[in-house]
Amino acid sequence: MTPALSFAERVLQWFDAHGRHDLPWQQPRSAYRVWVSEIMLQQTQVATVVPYFARFMARFPDVQTLACAPLDEVLAHWSGLGYYARARNLHACAKVVTETLNGAFPRTIDGCMALPGIGRSTAGAIVSQAFDLPAPILDGNVRRVLARHAALHGWPGTPAVSQAFWALAEARLPTHRHADYTQALMDLGATCCTARRPQCLSCPVQHDCLARQHGSIDHLPTPKPRRTRPRRRAQILIIENEAGDILLARRPQRGLWGGLWSPPVIDAEQCWPAALDALPRRDHAPLAPIAHRFTHFDLQMDPVRLLGTSPPDTDHIWHTPSGALTLGLPAPIRRMIEQLVAHPATPQA
Ligand code: ADE
Repeated sequence: MTPALSFAERVLQWFDAHGRHDLPWQQPRSAYRVWVSEIMLQQTQVATVVPYFARFMARFPDVQTLACAPLDEVLAHWSGLGYYARARNLHACAKVVTETLNGAFPRTIDGCMALPGIGRSTAGAIVSQAFDLPAPILDGNVRRVLARHAALHGWPGTPAVSQAFWALAEARLPTHRHADYTQALMDLGATCCTARRPQCLSCPVQHDCLARQHGSIDHLPTPKPRRTRPRRRAQILIIENEAGDILLARRPQRGLWGGLWSPPVIDAEQCWPAALDALPRRDHAPLAPIAHRFTHFDLQMDPVRLLGTSPPDTDHIWHTPSGALTLGLPAPIRRMIEQLVAHPATPQA
């Protein structure tokens, strides 16, 4: 059954009863206050922003005051909010608005996007809330509401999916109450259509929510695809001598475990040194492989236990396993040597 009211009308009705109406930037509402709040809210929760917003407005009550203030003072009022590029952009933006736009904030999405630090969604939030004009927004909460209601699949990081989301957001705009609608969608996403355990039975658009009909609420919005990570292998040489000492090498300063001590590691691409073929293997007590996650690949290091004699060169030292534990060791190597201390190799038959 098609609901009698449009998507936007039902969202607005829900907002009247359940939305947030007392946020400090809603009263009094001005382009300046909406803009500052939207920049503060870009990466920060409402509850954190509220006291910062109050202090900021007390010190910089209008765009001219902000433009004339020293950047250091703006940064001081931002201190603790993080992402300080936002404060620098805010200050730069205030200068543009006062010096080239006569103190008037742009009333169009493109006009706002031309200013420093304002992307498409923030531009929509400013235009709709400051001027009550139709302008779509797509922050994380709103994207979730729309993706579920329309069962729009796909990760919005690709241009085609992003375009589909913007078209959907545009198509759902109401014909009036644009400021309220923007706030309503954000509130619906924040309190009802939540990422986990959404409260669908309280949702004003539950009856034509396609994700709900398809049982795909938990799969929308589509998350960023995980790259399949290449897996590389290496061997870690646990060379023990007759006295039970183990051979350690200092790792090169740059790269994995730089400057720490470790048994020698041989990458799969590296040639297996012929000298090692002569060493008897001690495979009777297998040790667990070590896994390490690099940015672009996973490395698995398989321990190989060998019986050795003298160090192959001066970069290597022999150490008792318990004495080795006093050296600077990478954590997985420390765990491995602790295993050796707990289970020493029996003399080779
Ligand atoms: N996040 C970004 N803008 C917001 C707003 N106006 N209210 C609540 N959360 C937001």
